[in-house]
Amino acid sequence: MQYIPPSNLRGANLAPLLAARGLDPDWIQLHDFDPHSPQNVARYTYAHNAAKIPFHYRSAVPSLPQLRTWIDTLVTAALENQAERGAPIASVIHGPSLLLLGVTGVGKTYEAYGAMRELSVSGVSGEWAVTTAADLYAALRPRHGVDSEAEFRKYRNARLLLIDDLGAERKPTEFTEEINFRLINHRYEHHLPTLMTSNVEPKDLAARLGDRVISRLAEMCERIPMKGHDRRRNAA
Ligand SMILES: Nc1ncnc2c1ncn2[C@@H]1O[C@H](COP(=O)(O)OP(=O)(O)O)[C@@H](O)[C@H]1O
Ligand SMILES: [Mg+2]
Repeated sequence: MQYIPPSNLRGANLAPLLAARGLDPDWIQLHDFDPHSPQNVARYTYAHNAAKIPFHYRSAVPSLPQLRTWIDTLVTAALENQAERGAPIASVIHGPSLLLLGVTGVGKTYEAYGAMRELSVSGVSGEWAVTTAADLYAALRPRHGVDSEAEFRKYRNARLLLIDDLGAERKPTEFTEEINFRLINHRYEHHLPTLMTSNVEPKDLAARLGDRVISRLAEMCERIPMKGHDRRRNAA
C-alpha cells in the first residue's frame, strides 16, 4: 500500500465519522511514514473511495444505528482475519449485506454514502464499487467493442458494492432480471458485503426482482425500512 502523507482534510467533514469509530479528529493525520499503519490505510482508502462519491453526498454522515452495527461487524471481521493470517493490514473480505428501503427522498443514498465514508476512515482497507442499478444495466448492455462481461466482473467481484435504486426500472426485462440474479447470486455465494437501496414497497419487491433474487436477499441481508417524508421537497 502506497504511503499517503497527511493532507488537509478539513473540508471533508471526517470528524463525526472518526468520532463514531471512537477516534480523535486528528487520528487520521499521524505522519509515521508507515504504509501499513491503520492511519495510512484510512487515508489511502478514503482517498480512493471519496473519488467515487457524487459531489452532492461528499460530506454525508450516516445516522442509522443499523449502519453503524454493520460497519462494526465488517471492521471486526477484517481485524480477525488479519490476526489469523498475520497480514500487515486489515481488509474487508466477507460480511453481511444491507438493504435500505424507503420512499424517494427519505435519505437512502445519503445514508449509503455516509456508511461508505465511515467505513473508509476506520483503518480497515476496502475498495468500493458504486453504481445505480439503472447505470449498471446501461453499462452492461451488449454492444460492439465493449467487453460487458469484464465490466460485470468489476461489480460482481468488488470488495464492497453499493447498488443504488435496485428495482427502480418500471418494467423488469429478461436482461435486467438476469443481471440482478447473476450479481446477487455471486455476492450471496461468496458472502461479499453489498449495500443496496430501493424505493420499491416491500410487498412489490418479489414482483420486481423475482423470487430467486428475493430468496437470496432474505438470507444474505438485513432489511432496514426508512420512515419519513421526501427531504428534497422540504428543501425546495
Ligand atoms: N441525514 C441527512 N442530513 C442532511 N441531509 C440529508 C440527510 N439525509 C438526506 N439528506 C438530503 O435529503 C435529500 C434526499 O436524500 P437522498 O439520500 O438523496 O434520498 P433517497 O436516496 O432516499 O431518494 C438529499 O438532498 C440529501 O442530501
Ligand atoms: Mg437515492
